Amino acid sequence: MAEVIWGLATSHVPSIGAAMDHKKTEDPYWKPLFDGYAPAREWMAEHRPDVAVIVYNDHANSIGLDLVPTFGIGTAESYDVADEGWGRRAVPRVVGAPELSEHLVVELMDDSFDIATFHQLDVDHGLTVPLSVYCPEPGDAWPCAVVPILVNVIQYPQPTAARCYALGQALGRAIRSFPKDIRVAVFGTGGMSHQLSGARAGLINTEFDRMFLQAIETEPEKLAALTREDYIRDAGTEGIELIMWLVMRGALSDSIRRVHDTYHVPASNTAAALALFEDLGASGAVSR
Ligand code: DHB
Ligand code: FE
Repeated sequence: MAEVIWGLATSHVPSIGAAMDHKKTEDPYWKPLFDGYAPAREWMAEHRPDVAVIVYNDHANSIGLDLVPTFGIGTAESYDVADEGWGRRAVPRVVGAPELSEHLVVELMDDSFDIATFHQLDVDHGLTVPLSVYCPEPGDAWPCAVVPILVNVIQYPQPTAARCYALGQALGRAIRSFPKDIRVAVFGTGGMSHQLSGARAGLINTEFDRMFLQAIETEPEKLAALTREDYIRDAGTEGIELIMWLVMRGALSDSIRRVHDTYHVPASNTAAALALFEDLGASGAVSR
C-alpha cells in the first residue's frame, strides 16, 4: 500500500523561484532565506518520495476568475509550466501520476468531497516554486511525479480552514488506500502572512505566524477553528493561503516529527517559512 512519508509546508513567493532561476541565491537579500532551507533540503534529498501531492492555489494564471472551483485535482499525464506574463520558468514540465489521481478522485468523492477534476492544467508559481524549494537543481526532470490539488484561496468565499483540514484527513486516508507500494510526500503551500494590495498592502504579522508555525504541529484543530475572516484579518488577504497547510497537516498521521523549520521576513512582500514533518506512521519509527 502507499504510505505518506513526509509533509512540507512552504511559501510559494514567485521571486523565490526567480532568485533560483537567475542564480541570485547567494545575494545578500536572498542568502539568509536559502540558508534556512538547507537542512530541510538535505533531509528531503535523502528521503525521496515517488509522488508529491502538492496542495496549492492557481493565481488566475491557468484558471480564470469566471469559474473557480473550491477544490480541484489534476489527473493529467503531465502539466505544463504556466506562462505568468514573462515567459515560462526554465524548469522541467511536471510529470503527473494519473493512476494515483484517479484513485484519489474516487476515494474523495466517496468520502463526501465533491472535487473538480482537471484533465488539463498549466501549473503556476503556487506549485513550481515549492517544487524548486524541494529540489533546487532538477536538471532535465523533477525527481518525482506530482498530483496537483487545488484550493480556492483567492475568491470569496474561500473554504473554511476546518473543511481544508477535513479534506487533508480524507486525502491521507485516500493515499494510504492506494494499492501500490509507493512513497508519497504531501506539500502544503503558500503563506505566511502577506497582503499584496489595498490599504493594508505589505502587512506582516510575525506573532500570528509564529503561533501558526508551532500550532500546525501540535494543535492543528485550533487553526482549523479559525474563520476565513480571522485569517484575512490576522495574516492578510493573501495570508489566507495558510489554510492549504492544514490540508497537508490533515493528511499526516497523528505521529509526526518536526525535521526542520525556518522563518524569514521579508521575501518580496511575504513572511516566508518552511516547515518539514516526517510522518512516523502507525509504527512511530524515526528514520534518519
Ligand atoms: C507574492 C506572494 C505570493 O503568495 C504570490 O502568490 C505572489 C507574490 C509576493 O510576496 O511577491
Ligand atoms: Fe500566492
